[in-house]
Amino acid sequence: MSLSSVEVNKLKQAPAVEGVLPVVLRRWSPRSFNSREVNLADLRKIFEAVRWTASSYNEQPWRFFVGLSNSLTYKKIFSTLIGFNQGWAGAAPVLILGAASSKFAHNGSSNMFALYDLGAAAGFLCLQASALGLSTHSMAGYDQAAARKAFEIPEDYVLGAVIALGYQGEPSALNNEHMLAQETAPRSRKPLNEFVLSAWGEAEDLG
Ligand SMILES: Cc1cc2nc3c(=O)[nH]c(=O)nc-3n(C[C@H](O)[C@H](O)[C@H](O)COP(=O)(O)O)c2cc1C
Repeated sequence: MSLSSVEVNKLKQAPAVEGVLPVVLRRWSPRSFNSREVNLADLRKIFEAVRWTASSYNEQPWRFFVGLSNSLTYKKIFSTLIGFNQGWAGAAPVLILGAASSKFAHNGSSNMFALYDLGAAAGFLCLQASALGLSTHSMAGYDQAAARKAFEIPEDYVLGAVIALGYQGEPSALNNEHMLAQETAPRSRKPLNEFVLSAWGEAEDLG
């Protein structure tokens, strides 16, 4: 028998670390979404959070295409997803595609940090969504060329991930064994000493 969404949330929760934001520990990426719509007021809050993300030269190079259920924007984003992602993401009521200008508006030179800024904005988006009781699931599995064409995105914009947004569904709604297994497995992460360094290959000792 499959675990319920409440049981899964407990199992996905990162171990408590004193002082770490609860929303950071709680956020995870489900593939099961239920059909409850996301209200526009919540979407506005989410993009307000995005708005206050830091960016190189304060360029705010990000643009987000927001597809609400049954809209043309939603259909266009969905059509670019690879088959595996189409297998679950269509249940999410909102699909978002991120892009960022790789040219600085102030002088036309190239912004090497556009994708970095877009990723930071996406991080704010996911955390703010989580704080509102919503779930997100990012996807690199989509056809970038098709998305660029569908939205007529200029060549000097780089594309980020597609993000499914909505309310978490019951794991049992997934009709794929592999997805169900991942949906109900604990999350894992590298220990700090693998990525917090004092020199190349040397962990910084944070005590
Ligand atoms: C940029 C990015 C691309 C991803 N692409 C996919 C994807 O195409 N399909 C998918 O099912 N999950 C995708 N994921 C989800 C990750 O597998 C997931 O975030 C990771 O396993 C960590 O799990 P957690 O978010 O629940 O902590 C992607 C996540 C990110 C951040």
